[in-house]
Amino acid sequence: MPKLRVQCFSMSLDGYGAGPSQDRTNPLGVGGMALHQWVFATRTFQKMFGKEGGATGIDDDFAARGFDNIGAWILGRNMFGPIRGPWPDDSWKGWWGDTPPYHTPVFVLTHHPRASIAMNGGTTFHFVTDGIHAALQRATDAANGKDIRLGGGVATVRQYLHAGLIDEMHLAISPILLGAGEHLLVDIDTPKLGYQCTGHVATPNATHVVITKAASP
Ligand SMILES: NC(=O)c1ccc[n+]([C@@H]2O[C@H](COP(=O)([O-])OP(=O)(O)OC[C@H]3O[C@@H](n4cnc5c(N)ncnc54)[C@H](OP(=O)(O)O)[C@@H]3O)[C@@H](O)[C@H]2O)c1
Repeated sequence: MPKLRVQCFSMSLDGYGAGPSQDRTNPLGVGGMALHQWVFATRTFQKMFGKEGGATGIDDDFAARGFDNIGAWILGRNMFGPIRGPWPDDSWKGWWGDTPPYHTPVFVLTHHPRASIAMNGGTTFHFVTDGIHAALQRATDAANGKDIRLGGGVATVRQYLHAGLIDEMHLAISPILLGAGEHLLVDIDTPKLGYQCTGHVATPNATHVVITKAASP
């Protein structure tokens, strides 16, 4: 069965997955870029943006695993961009330039309809206005038997977690405090939903934690 996987989701020590006040100059909210420090130097991240070299090792292994066997992605509208409310026009096409690093269909949850956008390199953004189950069904159909990666942001991961639909979640806990922003796990009873920690390993840059949902009896 294809899995719904959260991978490389960075979280601060105080539990935030994004800083406050996201805008064009702060895609991860104020202070939020520090969440991803662990990944920037990795070979996988460098390669995503066409660069040679980069660090190998545990951080890179997790970064690379995030792309293994992924046939479609699901994102929330705020991860796709800083624009809120009805789309003023079709000019915003994500943060990632003409060739986004997805290379698959990407389903963006929003309340505001918009035509799909085909980008270079195999990424097509589709906008889904009928909720998380519909987005998962469309992503599953598009993924052709491969897994679906739930990219974020925080509100989107929280909805799928609440619904018990995430099979596996890799969190990279970064050694920073944010103090404010979007909190990832507050008020979600993960053990009650069947989640448990099934792996953890620390590097100088992050503590990687894998949380897995037990199979239904
Ligand atoms: N820490 C990490 O590794 C990581 C990873 C990814 C993203 N991020 C960061 O997380 C932040 C974004 O997270 P976020 O919590 O603000 O927002 P988000 O989850 O990206 O998007 C939330 C928005 O998506 C739309 N949406 C979500 N669920 C929906 C549903 N069921 N039906 C219809 N529309 C729905 C709504 O937008 P509308 O109502 O406006 O359409 C909602 O306001 C950004 O700063 C991003 O950079 C962090």
